[in-house]
Parts: sequence; structure tokens; C-alpha cells
Amino acid sequence: MATIHLLSAEDITSRLDDLCGVLADCVNGGASVGFMQPFAVDDARAYWLQVQKSVGLGHTIIAVAEHEGKTVGTVQVGLAQKPNQPHRGDLMKLLVHRSARGLGLSRKLMEAVEVEAARLGRTILVLDTATGSEAEAIYPRFGWERVGVIPDYALWPQGGFCGTTLFYKRVG
Ligand SMILES: CC(C)(COP(=O)(O)OP(=O)(O)OC[C@H]1O[C@@H](n2cnc3c(N)ncnc32)[C@H](O)[C@@H]1OP(=O)(O)O)[C@@H](O)C(=O)NCCC(=O)NCCS
Repeated sequence: MATIHLLSAEDITSRLDDLCGVLADCVNGGASVGFMQPFAVDDARAYWLQVQKSVGLGHTIIAVAEHEGKTVGTVQVGLAQKPNQPHRGDLMKLLVHRSARGLGLSRKLMEAVEVEAARLGRTILVLDTATGSEAEAIYPRFGWERVGVIPDYALWPQGGFCGTTLFYKRVG
């Protein structure tokens, strides 16, 4: 059975290799999550070390899903640092390894960080996701409101322009 864990910065160290594997698997599987192909597991390390720093500063919430002893999924909420947005968070990097999809892990991950964000007073959450991606179809199932599309916002990992769809959700 899968379990969901909120991580401290220290907790990330022991899960670093698995987190690198999850990110590389998603990018190589065609997800537009900030990186281009070819993407090696080693390329992911620098990214996760940045995340670890941000978690240590209290600027980011991170949750992971563990299945059969491995970290197979993750999601983050960046806590807006602007003085006029103490109640806002940015949901980011919902990633589930292809070997663990369809098990309901993304729903559990989202629930965990939404509850934690609300506990920290972050009552309005926003996200953007690649237009036409599987993820775009999933967020409305989790109660997120679709705002609209910005065309040509980013590139697909294999190249070519990709629009982004904006969503928000009130929590707490
Ligand atoms: C998007 C992603 C995280 C979904 O992860 P997952 O753990 O397989 O999703 P779940 O099993 O929790 O399914 C979530 C819900 O979406 C539904 N769903 C799953 N795949 C779907 C699809 N292709 N189209 C529509 N709905 C889908 C499920 O039935 C489930 O709904 P329910 O809880 O109401 O029954 C995963 O596909 C992924 O990592 N994609 C690549 C990375 C990415 O694009 N991330 C988004 C960045 S913004």
C-alpha cells in the first residue's frame, strides 16, 4: 500500500536518488515540467538540491508518495514570499513515476499538500500545467477551477511550443 509523507529538508537526502529517478522518468516520458530531453538522472540532482534548500528555508512544502519501499511520486507548494501574498501558494511539480500511475497517488499527494498549505494559512493556491497534457484533465477532478490558457508559454521536452492552462483552488 502507498503512504504519503511531508518531508523536511533533512528527509530529502535519503530520498534524493528516487526523486531524481521520478523527475527523469516524467521528463523522458514527455511531461513539460521545466526541462528538456535528453534528461539524465544526474541532471535532476541540482534541481532537487535547490528544492531541499527552499524547504529548509520554509519556503516550500513537499510531499512524497512511497510505494513498495520506493519514492514514486511527489508534489510541492511554493509559499509566496511577497509581503502582500501571505495567503497564496504555488502548486508545482506533481510527478508520479510511470510505473506507479493509475494507483490514485496524485490524488493523495494533492490532498496532503492542500491540507498542509491551509494549515499554514495559504488559502488560495494556483498552478499552471501544459495544455493538452494528462495532468490538465486531472486537476478539475480534484476541485481546481480552470482559469484559461496562455498559448506558446513553454516548450515540450522534445521541442515545439506548448500552451499552459492556469488553475486555482481555495483551500481551508
Ligand atoms: C498527472 C499525474 C501526476 C497523474 O498521476 P497518477 O498518480 O497516475 O493519477 P491518479 O492515479 O491519482 O489519478 C488521478 C485522477 O485522474 C484520473 N485520471 C488518471 N489518468 C487520467 C487521464 N489520462 N485522463 C483523465 N483522467 C485521468 C483518475 O481516474 C483519477 O481520478 P479519480 O481520483 O477521480 O478516480 C501523472 O500522470 C504524471 O506524473 N504525469 C507527468 C507529470 C506531469 O505532467 N505533471 C503535472 C505537472 S503540472
